[in-house]
Amino acid sequence: MKLNIAVLAGDGIGPEITQQSIKVLKAIAERFDHEFLFEEAVVGASAIDLTENPLPDATLDLCKKSDAVLFGAIGDPKYDNNPAAKVRPEQGLLKLRKELGLFANIRPVRAFERLLEHSPLRPDRIEGADMVIYRELTGGIYFGEKTLSEDEREASDLCVYTAEEIERMTHLAFEAAQKRRNKVTLVDKANVLETSRLWRRTVKEIAKDYPDVELDFLYVDNAAMQMIINPKQFDVILTENMFGDIISDEASVIGGSIGLLASASVGKEHALFEPIHGSYPQAAGKGIANPIASILSAAMLLEHFNLLEEAAIIQAAVDKSLEMNICTSDINKESSYSTEKVGTFIEGLILDNEDLKIN
Ligand code: IPM
Ligand code: MN
Repeated sequence: MKLNIAVLAGDGIGPEITQQSIKVLKAIAERFDHEFLFEEAVVGASAIDLTENPLPDATLDLCKKSDAVLFGAIGDPKYDNNPAAKVRPEQGLLKLRKELGLFANIRPVRAFERLLEHSPLRPDRIEGADMVIYRELTGGIYFGEKTLSEDEREASDLCVYTAEEIERMTHLAFEAAQKRRNKVTLVDKANVLETSRLWRRTVKEIAKDYPDVELDFLYVDNAAMQMIINPKQFDVILTENMFGDIISDEASVIGGSIGLLASASVGKEHALFEPIHGSYPQAAGKGIANPIASILSAAMLLEHFNLLEEAAIIQAAVDKSLEMNICTSDINKESSYSTEKVGTFIEGLILDNEDLKIN
């Protein structure tokens, strides 16, 4: 298969982790005789530095004509400490999601057997936890109208959802549940928010088309607690934009490190793959960032194009690297390897190891 992949490495640790995913994808191309072509473009703070725009037109055009986008991370402390900044790196990512119509963000979370002791949660509580969060990505409060009064002492962010936005998301979540354990949990705040009540009504209606899938509901505050005390109850979590953002960072502690969590953002025409962690500026250039979240995002890219064996090989190589303790310091403080070493090890497994069997 031939794929044109736009690479938007971004800020902080973005470039160094994305470099490892590219290596891994090239190894897959070699092993399976595919042609993957990579073209880079700037985004986020690095794009602001160059062009004063976090998403230059050239970057957006490249993404639109590519088959997929491999995204690193964005964000820079010089903007975080300056809430008054008019142009912010995050706007680049939000605009990119909107422009590409990437309405569904898919974030799988599972407890890695090897890392059970590593999570701050009790191993018996998380062992076997395996869920996927379906976060709506182009609606809600992140995209509603914003206001700031003249004296800058009053501000507002509007949360808006349409039934159409909820419907297309809900279908994806139910279809995913049918391939998993047939359960969808809608996370909302329907005891307070009108948008949440619209979510409930709409999701209940669509659920009738999927009689084999069990549907339950949790308020987001309760869901945040359940995520810690009984994460095994979750199969597919369906939720709106901001709740999904928050819940998925929380869920990452189940995996043992946020440096392991990958995501896919998909729409009707485009797809983007990125780790859920941020740009981790304190670690930039030090070679200590965990490349696995980015590498697993590359695996999700392959899955998206139905290259299932290829994706499973990456997964198996990642499992093997964890098993053999070839990991960065967030996973193993005693014997830690650099970002590049971990990437090279996984690349090597893919290229050389004929025994790298799926499962
Ligand atoms: C994420 C990030 C982004 C979000 C930021 C960088 C805009 O936190 O992908 O989860 O809030 O969606
Ligand atoms: Mn987030």
